[in-house]
Amino acid sequence: MKQYIFSFVVLLTSQLAAAQTLDYKSIHFPKGFLLGVSTAAYQVEGGWQADGKGESNWDFYANKVGVTQFLTGKKETGNVADNMYDRTQYLKDIALMKQLGINTYRFSIEWSRILPNGTGAVNEKALAHYDLLIDDLKANGIEPFVTLYHFTIPQVLIEKGGWTNPESVNWYTHFADVVFARYGKKVSKFITFNEPYIEHFLADRLINGPMSKEPMNVQYAREMIKVHHQLLANATTIKRYHALKLGGVIGLTANLSPCSPADPNNPNDVKITTLQDGLLNRLLLDPLFKGTYPADALAAIQQYAPEFKPSADEMALLASQKPDFLGINFYAPALVKYDEKSPLNCNWMDTNPDVVKSHNGPVRPDGLYDLLMRIKTEYGNPVTYITENGAGFEGADEANVAGKINDQHRADYLVGHLKAVQRAIQDGANTKGYMHWSLLDNFEWVFGYSVHFGMVAVDLNTQQRTPKQSFYVYQAILKQQ
Ligand code: IFM
Repeated sequence: MKQYIFSFVVLLTSQLAAAQTLDYKSIHFPKGFLLGVSTAAYQVEGGWQADGKGESNWDFYANKVGVTQFLTGKKETGNVADNMYDRTQYLKDIALMKQLGINTYRFSIEWSRILPNGTGAVNEKALAHYDLLIDDLKANGIEPFVTLYHFTIPQVLIEKGGWTNPESVNWYTHFADVVFARYGKKVSKFITFNEPYIEHFLADRLINGPMSKEPMNVQYAREMIKVHHQLLANATTIKRYHALKLGGVIGLTANLSPCSPADPNNPNDVKITTLQDGLLNRLLLDPLFKGTYPADALAAIQQYAPEFKPSADEMALLASQKPDFLGINFYAPALVKYDEKSPLNCNWMDTNPDVVKSHNGPVRPDGLYDLLMRIKTEYGNPVTYITENGAGFEGADEANVAGKINDQHRADYLVGHLKAVQRAIQDGANTKGYMHWSLLDNFEWVFGYSVHFGMVAVDLNTQQRTPKQSFYVYQAILKQQ
């Protein structure tokens, strides 16, 4: 017992000492600022067949295609994940959130639970589950920030063409209607879609690419129709949500990365950087806030997918519905290289000069500041929420010594990015919240469980949670607000 108390005290003091090495004392946000964490259903829930859930695209990819094997050589799934569909478990996780001190929790609602057949019959048990989760969060003083769609769609709809089918707009808006009818009065912040660019241009190529015989540029350009249908679904849903006059707000979340040439002295890198910015950032920001697609990115895509020609009515719909806020997922800037082997000659994935490599790219908090300033000046300074920001390191980068997990890199990352947000707000950015990705280590899509983004480690055999150093640093920052 004595020994236990001794190691606990050592652990606590070393955690506090480490936390104090970081200069976070000056981090303060305006009153009412949301500070929280983010997750997504497939990555944390498990319970893949619980309560009459239907099969989702990711149940299919992970179990039947075995997609994690393409990159990691290991077959892993989200069938159990962090077991958060189980109320006994999620109540413990809410207790952790309280211990952390957050005031908001972003999570997603799984479409294949609510409408197991994609459309038609509604699954009451699943509706009741999220009802209770929302109540449990609110009872603990945590505001639910709800994403309707985070990469998962019922597999039956994929079999009908998925997002390539124009009907997908109606499938989605029906799902959104069901969600608003049930939770619209008790949830005041909704996100329609998470990261359309990443889902289609990047992830679909990682999943379907290895099986496809089509030239890469054609595969890439064909993804555009899916983004377009999601943007139409987004606009239609915003319109319907506003018509309900529920008093809440609705927006879309994009993964955005300021672009600069990997080698500023290489004219090819310089030239291709503008196109990369068009594809990665303006392709979503322009239709959302200006009602148009950027001409350079559109022309590049149409070169390989000439059939993609949005109609005047569709563009008028996009132009007529601005989101109430922009959700920003920021991980890293893009250092862009001209590369004949990459889609449309743009390569930003393979350029990370950092010695300690974070999974999603170079660690540059100033990139977040620059991005927020750009949104202020070029897009009319809409309300923004940082809906994700975080760092994934290989498991081995987090030294676990005697039960203490030292994730100093993540703690530094957190402090640096919070300071960047604070500076942007001081310089006029309309940012109203920050949600760290993620509370728990979880299923990182095609990378399975090989990459850790959590402030809390999860033992997948026992479901035991162990807060890391970054958890205690965030806790200290939250306490001083
Ligand atoms: O895990 C993902 C999340 O689902 C979407 N944004 C990026 C995260 C980390 O890669």
